[in-house]
Amino acid sequence: MTIPKEITTRQRAKLLPRMQAVIAEKNYLSQEDMVEIAEDLRVPIAEVYGTASFFSFIETEKELGKYVIRICKTIICDMRRKNEIIETLEHCLNIKLGETTKDKEFSLLTTNCLGWCHKGPAMLINDDVFTELTPEKVRNIIKDYKTKK
Ligand code: FES
Repeated sequence: MTIPKEITTRQRAKLLPRMQAVIAEKNYLSQEDMVEIAEDLRVPIAEVYGTASFFSFIETEKELGKYVIRICKTIICDMRRKNEIIETLEHCLNIKLGETTKDKEFSLLTTNCLGWCHKGPAMLINDDVFTELTPEKVRNIIKDYKTKK
């Protein structure tokens, strides 16, 4: 199949929803997924990769867990002891920052400001926001997610 070098506005409009559908299913966009999307939408693979790499929430390097925890690393949350929250998460999940649990349930990542600075430290678990975090609050949140299995 010949893939055109130019991308139309209509193709561009379809690109992100297609990528989001894959991410919603498996929290990860593999190279194979990107090639498939490029072929389906008849857009250059570079366009798909460029779009995926622009958005920090689209993981293209490795498969993530069912629940992706993204703790804010930006200055306000940093000043509000985000490191203590990370240490608590690492302890609860028995992984280090950047890792995924062996059962593929949780991945622990950082992210830039989530827009909840006034209630920091803040984190996301998939699309759910958690604010004003304390070690005790984090332990209870993780306990709740572990029982969701
Ligand atoms: Fe953490 Fe804004 S600095 S949410």
